[in-house]
Amino acid sequence: MPQSRKLLVTSALPYANGPIHLGHLVEYIQTDIWVRYQRLRGRFCTYVCADDTHGTPIMLKAEQEGVTPEALITRVGQEHARDFADFGISFDYFGSTHCPENEQLARDVYERSRAGGHITRRTVEQAFDPVKNLFLPDRFIKGTCPRCHSPDQYGDSCEVCGATYAPSDLEDPVSALSGATPVSRSSEHHFFRLGDFTASLKAFTETDALQPEAANKLREWLDAGLTDWDISRDAPYFGFSIPGAPDKFFYVWLDAPIGYMATLWRLLNARQGRPLTLEEIRKAWGDYEIHHFIGKDILYFHALFWPAMLEAAGLARPHAIHAHGFLTINGKKMSKSRGTFITARDYLAHLPAEYLRYYLAAKLNGRIEDIDLNFDDFRARINADLVGKLINIASRSAQLLTRFAGGRLAETLPDPALFQEFAAAGEDIGIHYERREYSRAIKLIMELADRANRYIDDAKPWEMGRDPAQHGALRAVCTQALNLFRVLMTYLQPVLPAAAAQVSTWLGGTDLSFESAGIPLLGGTIEPYQHLMRRVDEKDLAWVAPAPAPPPAKTQAPAARAPAATIDTADFGRVDLRVAAVVDAQTVEGADKLLRLSLDLGEGRLRTVFAGIRRAYDPQTLIGRHVICVANLAARKMRFGVSEGMVLAAGDGQDIFLLGVDTGAKPGMPVR
Ligand code: MSP
Ligand code: ZN
Repeated sequence: MPQSRKLLVTSALPYANGPIHLGHLVEYIQTDIWVRYQRLRGRFCTYVCADDTHGTPIMLKAEQEGVTPEALITRVGQEHARDFADFGISFDYFGSTHCPENEQLARDVYERSRAGGHITRRTVEQAFDPVKNLFLPDRFIKGTCPRCHSPDQYGDSCEVCGATYAPSDLEDPVSALSGATPVSRSSEHHFFRLGDFTASLKAFTETDALQPEAANKLREWLDAGLTDWDISRDAPYFGFSIPGAPDKFFYVWLDAPIGYMATLWRLLNARQGRPLTLEEIRKAWGDYEIHHFIGKDILYFHALFWPAMLEAAGLARPHAIHAHGFLTINGKKMSKSRGTFITARDYLAHLPAEYLRYYLAAKLNGRIEDIDLNFDDFRARINADLVGKLINIASRSAQLLTRFAGGRLAETLPDPALFQEFAAAGEDIGIHYERREYSRAIKLIMELADRANRYIDDAKPWEMGRDPAQHGALRAVCTQALNLFRVLMTYLQPVLPAAAAQVSTWLGGTDLSFESAGIPLLGGTIEPYQHLMRRVDEKDLAWVAPAPAPPPAKTQAPAARAPAATIDTADFGRVDLRVAAVVDAQTVEGADKLLRLSLDLGEGRLRTVFAGIRRAYDPQTLIGRHVICVANLAARKMRFGVSEGMVLAAGDGQDIFLLGVDTGAKPGMPVR
């Protein structure tokens, strides 16, 4: 049955007056992982989104910038689309609520609601800015808090004492736009009679369309009684005018969710190569199983207003609403003044998009819980999971296979039972994805990665490399390991689509679908290992929250060390530097600073070199790496054996950084 599900998935429509930030990305990444999972399972899944372009803030922002609202939303729309693309968000269509289809649908929903008797009008008193000549939304009124008397508080709540109130309760209110004292003015408004839908909304709470926490919230709201919803705004307003009332506009929250349907309409027009009629899109909407992904702050709009509007317009209700919690950064609410307001662009200037996708996936579950992005935890997690566990499987086994077995995979697996264990895990992992329990899926996948690394550690293929008689066994072990890796990449594909695509290409275009996870890759020749992911260093995060300036030093810090005595080219030429591959790395009994490295300098034998890098490097992570070695250094007899060279590293004794070389260099190549 699931094969025949036709899914329509949406994320909330971001406002077109600011950049996409990391908080937004929680939602788009959460949705995208689900969508990619569904598609990976062969389900027909359409994912649409759009910019939410109407309302007073956008109108004012355009005015501030000296451009028309249309110009502003066009520019921001392009920026948003680019940000989403760079984070791998796979919309089938990214539109805008400011389109003719949305206007037609908004009017249609309104007309049908009115025909059904669900619209009333009445006159309301509202704060008006006599200088700007417009009615003021609550957040554009400031004044002194009526409870704690803190000045400069917003019209709906006090940031100092947390009181909530009506703007008319403020002491000394002023317009945040002009500084003028607002006056009270009356105007006729259009209301949607939400209360007419109390019974069906109650029934909605009994379906499994809502998470238990969301259903409880909805019940609370229903118990408190539903009041009429003000859906009109006076000119000047950037939005759609109300039929029959030319100086009145639909409140942005009326046409925003209708934008989901308008965007589907535009997509279907494009797919079918002709414009669908209103009747056709109304029918098409009903053909989908609709899933809305939203943040907890807009539950009210999606769980109350939206289903009621749909019902009033004779349209199908969503199948499910999936709400998530809010993102905090280093434990703090995102805020510009604290330096924790991080835009998608800021992040991309320093870190790969897929690291954020992975980190969020490792934390997300199906409940409405806030999640924290702690950058130290982020670094530890990426380095431990992705680089230390996942990539380590591929880099070790692929490099050994290439070096000692011409990159040719074995014809059979040495441990088919272990492989089947990996293939069978797909079932549970899939269930977790389906339920949006991504953190559980990731946990299972990382347990398997540990298992794969243990397999390699036990088999010790690097030791087999030394003995040509064991190269067949080495090939078998590396083939097994690479196949385990391939299954893991399949499972991670919804989270790491770009890395998965790279792996698929590397492995000769291998299919990474769940269905083929159980069919091993055997017999062919693999390309040499290509660098897949890099570690996150402390310095990659220096931009995050600029550390406060250090106190002035009492003593002069030691100056950077002056260069050593001058040498000429011939002096330098006497040092024979070579690229070396680390074939094995071991700790040394009784020497807590040393690692014993087995290096391949392309000489047909391996050299032993002792290096004082133990504190900085886990030996397992070195195997397969290329380093730079002084090849003509006189051998030195040490307590633990003879050292036949020296590897180069940067650092001052505290921090040590091995020198590497770009991909493509071969062991033995001279370095000049
Ligand atoms: N335009 C409305 C949605 C209309 S849907 C018909 C809106 N836009 S928004 O830009 O403010 O937010 C878009 C989505 O991002 C919302 O679902 C919101 O909950 C989510 N998030 C915005 N900041 C967030 C965090 N800090 N953390 C997690 N999600 C957040 O609301
Ligand atoms: Zn207060």
